[in-house]
Amino acid sequence: MVDAFELRTAGQANVKTVTILGATGSVGTSTLDIIRQAPEAFQVVALTAQSNAAKLAELARAYRAKFAVIGDTSRYAELRDLLAGTGIEVAAGPEALVAAAEMPADCVVAAITGAAGLAPTFAAAGKGRRLALANKECLVAAGDVFMSAIRESGTELVPIDSEHSGAFQLLKDNNTRAVERIILTASGGPFRDWDLDRLATATPEAALKHPKWSMGPKISIDSATLMNKGLELIEAYHLFPVEARQIEVVVHPQSIIHCLVMFQDGSMLAQMSCPDMRIPISVGLAWPERLQSPVERVDLVKLQSLTFEAPDLTRFPALTLAREALERGGTAPAILNAANEVAVEGFLARRLSFLDITRTVATCLNRAEQAGMIKLPQTLEDVLEADGAGRQLARDVIGA
Ligand SMILES: NC(=O)c1ccc[n+]([C@@H]2O[C@H](COP(=O)([O-])OP(=O)(O)OC[C@H]3O[C@@H](n4cnc5c(N)ncnc54)[C@H](OP(=O)(O)O)[C@@H]3O)[C@@H](O)[C@H]2O)c1
Repeated sequence: MVDAFELRTAGQANVKTVTILGATGSVGTSTLDIIRQAPEAFQVVALTAQSNAAKLAELARAYRAKFAVIGDTSRYAELRDLLAGTGIEVAAGPEALVAAAEMPADCVVAAITGAAGLAPTFAAAGKGRRLALANKECLVAAGDVFMSAIRESGTELVPIDSEHSGAFQLLKDNNTRAVERIILTASGGPFRDWDLDRLATATPEAALKHPKWSMGPKISIDSATLMNKGLELIEAYHLFPVEARQIEVVVHPQSIIHCLVMFQDGSMLAQMSCPDMRIPISVGLAWPERLQSPVERVDLVKLQSLTFEAPDLTRFPALTLAREALERGGTAPAILNAANEVAVEGFLARRLSFLDITRTVATCLNRAEQAGMIKLPQTLEDVLEADGAGRQLARDVIGA
């Protein structure tokens, strides 16, 4: 049966083909929501997930994907049965995720969460097309190695993390040599006003309730510890031509300004929008064009005021840890990222307190330094090895 979607997309010369790695997640479904609003502009090639076969099958049917790939091989039969008779090709396992990333498509949206996204995102980065990057862990763990792969393949990298999308938009038509500072804003998360005693009692439920953004669980916890902003600091360092000391973080609870760039003449530009990931994702998909979007518009008069404050590094030391790992260089950021992922899992499983997340990461970085484990990675394999070592260190610290 031919439906309206198919009629509107068939045979159009400027239809953009899109693959979404991590299609069932928060960024993945927001991306599909944009595609649903502009069906004449996009055609879905491959959609991937890790274990949610039911949602992947539903999305693959609704968006007429050509391929649906599930990372967890034990869910293959379920996915195959759910898509039987649709003509959608089904595959499973880590190699299949990489194969999905390598399929011909104009744009690959990299929205797998965590270091699990490294191999498929690298695969997409090697193909010289547009890579709309949400998976910040890739830049954090593999920074220079990843950027070399991007440059060698001629891939067009468009960040879709909101702050980096802001910086991308602000810098695209400006003289980047004249940049004095890039200022990333942070909402401050759900515990912005909590003192240390209260933070010690913070539960996963409270940490997952982000005041401004609706996101997956891992990034929500990272926002509560401010590790997310630390990871974004490292991400910005690799994306933009500035030194680490030129990247600043400012807490801005309204989350309207996502990024500011100050130039050497003292002029400052800001990128503003309501906190809705569909805006940076639209930029990632359409740049330099702009898509029509139904998202809420900023109403300056209703807003009345925008406020800013310095991050409290005593209550939220994750930002300092990330900056130190960036300055230490080599595999230190990969170890920071891996240890953080294990610690966040431990917190969500109630094996660690909220404050123990950052303490665990700090202990792992110290132990890695003392053991001479921090090296200069040359390849993705070196990065994956450091990731594994960071995970093991964290498991040892937690006693898991
Ligand atoms: N959410 C946001 O607003 C936001 C904003 C900026 C940046 N980001 C970044 O975007 C990325 C995705 O975040 P998210 O919030 O969308 O995460 P999420 O909601 O947890 O979704 C993660 C996606 O990745 C898949 N996945 C999980 N583990 C996997 C594995 N081991 N192998 C392959 N696929 C796996 C999941 O599949 P299943 O559903 O089957 O588990 C799901 O499709 C992260 O790097 C995050 O830092 C997110």
